[in-house]
Amino acid sequence: MRLTVIGCGYVGLVTGACLAAAGHEVYCTDIDEKRIEQLKAGKVPIYEEHLDKVLKHAVAEKKISYTADAGEAIRVGEVIFICVGTPPKDTGEADLSAIDHVARQIAQEARTPKLVVEKSTVPALTGVQLQKALAAYSQRGSVKFEVASNPEFLREGTAVEDFFHPDRIVVGVENEKSAEVMRQIYAPILERKFHCPVHGGQCPSGTRGELLVTTINSAELIKHASNSFLALKISYANVISDLCERIGADVEEVTHAMGLDPRIGTQFLKAGLGFGGFCFPKDIQAFIHLASSVGVDFDMLKAAERVNKQRIDRFFEKIRKALWVIKGKKVAVLGLAFKANTDDIRFAPALDVIRRLLEEGAEVHASDPQAISRTKPLLPAVTYHEDPYAALKGADAALVCTEWKAFRNIDWSKAGQTMSRRLVIDGRNLYSPKKMHEWGFEYYSFGRL
Ligand code: UGA
Repeated sequence: MRLTVIGCGYVGLVTGACLAAAGHEVYCTDIDEKRIEQLKAGKVPIYEEHLDKVLKHAVAEKKISYTADAGEAIRVGEVIFICVGTPPKDTGEADLSAIDHVARQIAQEARTPKLVVEKSTVPALTGVQLQKALAAYSQRGSVKFEVASNPEFLREGTAVEDFFHPDRIVVGVENEKSAEVMRQIYAPILERKFHCPVHGGQCPSGTRGELLVTTINSAELIKHASNSFLALKISYANVISDLCERIGADVEEVTHAMGLDPRIGTQFLKAGLGFGGFCFPKDIQAFIHLASSVGVDFDMLKAAERVNKQRIDRFFEKIRKALWVIKGKKVAVLGLAFKANTDDIRFAPALDVIRRLLEEGAEVHASDPQAISRTKPLLPAVTYHEDPYAALKGADAALVCTEWKAFRNIDWSKAGQTMSRRLVIDGRNLYSPKKMHEWGFEYYSFGRL
């Protein structure tokens, strides 16, 4: 099938690349001409594991192409995936201006009927507005547009794997015809008829994802309800962690035992610095906003958001208690990205931590396997080191902000010899307190004995 992807950010590129690998002809376009030039030159503008391989393969097979001419991309595709950003406004409400802009482009450029699919994360009822906008902007009343919602459940860092091996594919449609088109698009993924770059053709057997057909409103709601629930779970674990500290219990023991109940599940119960990234913080806000706009009180989510914001305060209480005076101290910050395996620093807790350290007069040395170049322009006062051991040299304290494997594997007995003081404050609970104490470290983490 001929598919158009509008928006070559992380969601658009992963969607385009994976659907091309599944055998479709994909036409990608973006308002950012520089990005399109980069892609044409074979450069992937974001770090996402396996994405470069999938794109390279799709280009070689002539299954994917890039153009800055949105009109051309719109005319050629039978189905158009909208993958543009929906950032938060100051009020927390999702800014849908990019969706509106794309709707106008589609309505004006299309010459043949199109199925227009919302892939961007949008609040419920956006589909209704999109359908209205397509009709209003269309100068040729003869072109028919159908709308569908197909939310993504991709995690940054494992997005390619998630796309090829989904738990579920949700398609919200207006009619059976659109449902059938979406089934055809995803059939190669569900039937595993593609070359999997993650497992080299040896995908684990086991349950395959299910394609669920719903209404558009339900599909939109499923996305926000899922992300907000996961955020809620993290904040719950963080409050349990605070309780553990007061009572003298161990949060890992508590959450592990809780999670063994299949009704609860072990994932997303890791306590620490809290959630960041471009999804949970903005989605939870947008969901609160949507609920209140239709007269539903979602205080529970407001509490989860508040708990998350307070994680940085809790981290600083630990830093202050251990370091006493922050001014003039040399502090090594391990991790900039909002989580491991990505170069994404949007709403990254590490950046808030660094801003506060700088405000209080600390000398900050930071290390991250992927996110240094993105952070440098935002925080030029920091000294950056590719090598974490270089960041730790002479440091009065090490602060762990991201759970990268490279940091998990640090040889602290070696690093301790070069640090000015053996002090680690771990925002991601990466190390064994017992081992750290054996190596002569003062070690503080979240909710552990
Ligand atoms: C999240 C969802 O997990 C995806 O399903 C969804 O598709 C995506 O948002 C999206 O809406 O596009 P992502 O933002 O990539 O994916 O990151 P997660 O792996 O969910 O982690 C989010 C944050 O929560 C990170 O800062 C992570 O460090 C933190 N976290 C996660 C915890 O603090 N504790 C945990 O137990 C798990």
